[in-house]
Amino acid sequence: MATTGKGYAKVIIFGEHFVVYGLPGIAAGLDKFVTVDAQKVKDSNDIVVDDKVFNEKISREKNPEHIKFKLFDAMFKDEEFLPKKGIKFTINSNFPAGGGMGYSAALCVAMVRAMNSLFDQDWKEEKINELAYLGECVAHGNPSGIDNTCSTYGTTIWFEKNMEGGKNTIRPIKCGKSLYFVLANTGIKHNTKEAVEDVKKFKEKNPKEFDVICSDYKSIVSHAKKEVKFGGMFEIGKLMNQNQALLKQIGVSCEQIDQIVKIAIYEGALGAKLTGAGRGGNVLILCENEKFQDKVINSLAGKGFEAIKVKVS
Ligand code: MEV
Repeated sequence: MATTGKGYAKVIIFGEHFVVYGLPGIAAGLDKFVTVDAQKVKDSNDIVVDDKVFNEKISREKNPEHIKFKLFDAMFKDEEFLPKKGIKFTINSNFPAGGGMGYSAALCVAMVRAMNSLFDQDWKEEKINELAYLGECVAHGNPSGIDNTCSTYGTTIWFEKNMEGGKNTIRPIKCGKSLYFVLANTGIKHNTKEAVEDVKKFKEKNPKEFDVICSDYKSIVSHAKKEVKFGGMFEIGKLMNQNQALLKQIGVSCEQIDQIVKIAIYEGALGAKLTGAGRGGNVLILCENEKFQDKVINSLAGKGFEAIKVKVS
């Protein structure tokens, strides 16, 4: 019998890159997900993956170094009694990889959940999140944990990485008013690991500038927390623009992101910023209502950018 695990897509509303350094972030799970079906294969020593997203079929025996098996090993290495062979996974997703929506985290969460039910592990959400984080470390090197947390819980959260290695701070946030976002795709697939490494280099080369940027960001995010709870969407929009300016300063924006931001603001959006690692991926645009969402989406379509509506509550 096959079991299915699910991992949610996410958007970071405030704080990508800064969360890696222990500053708080605000992110939301979306109603989009990766699913992993898992089934036992009798008398097999192999693990096979039928990946419908990347359109590839892989076997551990033939290709042990494949990233998906590295993720698998990292996540389950300490689970002594968990069977690690004779399994077939099938991966599907209703959102794209490489667009800043947390694909790798959602895949890890979905795989952990699939293993949890296939082998009756009774893991709780916290454990699922912890195991998925180990997979994210393989995918991204030094992740903050915000993506797998959002992907596990699927809600809007306040997140702070514990820099001493203890438990991260994760608090659900109830939005005072629903937020009408547009997610606009630059069409460029980004590389999270590379972007995170480049920000580290920027920090090392410009320590004082980075400190000032971080302290500006800190006041943006604490203000944003109040406004999200209160439903102050005009303020949230302004704070998103300020956050985008800082992301530009640390070098993770790009021409297409800047172009999308400009179009969105021209069409009356309240604020816009990159979401995820940047250098491509998606731009998150806050609109006052559905009418503005349509206006922004139509205008972006005229310039060749695909965009979708996303509501966060
Ligand atoms: C990627 O979605 C978010 C980053 O802040 C990396 C991380 O937090 O692990 C760029």
